[in-house]
Amino acid sequence: MNDVLYFNGRFTTTDERVLGVEDRGFQFGDAVYEVFKFVDKRPKFLLDHYRRMDRGLREIDVPNPWDEREFALIIGELIDRTAFADGIVYIQVSRGEAERAHFYPDGMRPTAVAYSRAFRFPDAAKKERGVRLITTDDIRWKMCNVKAVNLLANALAKKRAQRAGADEALLLEGGIVREGASASFFVVSGGRVITHPLDEYILPGVVRDHTIALALAAKIRVDERPIREEELFDLDEAFLTSTTMGVMPVSEIDGRVIGNSRRGEITGTLQRLFDELERTG
Ligand code: PDD
Repeated sequence: MNDVLYFNGRFTTTDERVLGVEDRGFQFGDAVYEVFKFVDKRPKFLLDHYRRMDRGLREIDVPNPWDEREFALIIGELIDRTAFADGIVYIQVSRGEAERAHFYPDGMRPTAVAYSRAFRFPDAAKKERGVRLITTDDIRWKMCNVKAVNLLANALAKKRAQRAGADEALLLEGGIVREGASASFFVVSGGRVITHPLDEYILPGVVRDHTIALALAAKIRVDERPIREEELFDLDEAFLTSTTMGVMPVSEIDGRVIGNSRRGEITGTLQRLFDELERTG
């Protein structure tokens, strides 16, 4: 595949092998990433993604290779050079390349990569039908607020879900529901929307934030508090949010049907509001 690739200040295509084997992103997972969506060549919520990446880079002590303006220019050019109008952009910034050692040298030059990819976003039928979840242990590291590339725990959880005939794994720790392996998780109970608070146990999802703001603006009550495992047995609706799915109903958890097996009312409202915001944003 030869999609457009930005690599450390120049444009090429993804068939060029640009990374060295001693890049710390490859050897240590010493990198952060972002995924955002573009539609009709227009990036969605770009600034939110830039800001989360900037915070993540600060947390892991890697200098951000771009200021906001440079970032927007590079992404604009990347999308301009892309042959298709709708897709995703994957961005990764690693600490850089150095002889393999746990101690990293001071003053390293980060490796900055961005490429576009065509992507099939869920269609109307899927967005109504929803997704099936299984629950599994959250064995991730303890800084899940940083969108780091060490996604082994997420990938294993996701594969387990797939083998069980489900779409996504819901990660639980000590009887608390954290989030999906690659999506934020919400439940609706008694007319309220409930989701895990922002802390080191979950990723601050871009779609999560917008969904909460839309709910509040629509006078839907939102509680940001940990969800106990038992609550999964008694809820009216559940949904996931992510860049690639938007607001996605959950139809089943561990084989139990949620609500009356149709997309819940509040989920449907938030899905519509989010789609509108994304279209115009
Ligand atoms: N995943 N939680 C986790 C663990 C995630 O990996 C993601 C996104 C989210 C949702 O975040 P956002 O709304 O900013 O997309 C929550 C991306 C899409 C991925 O890894 O491909």
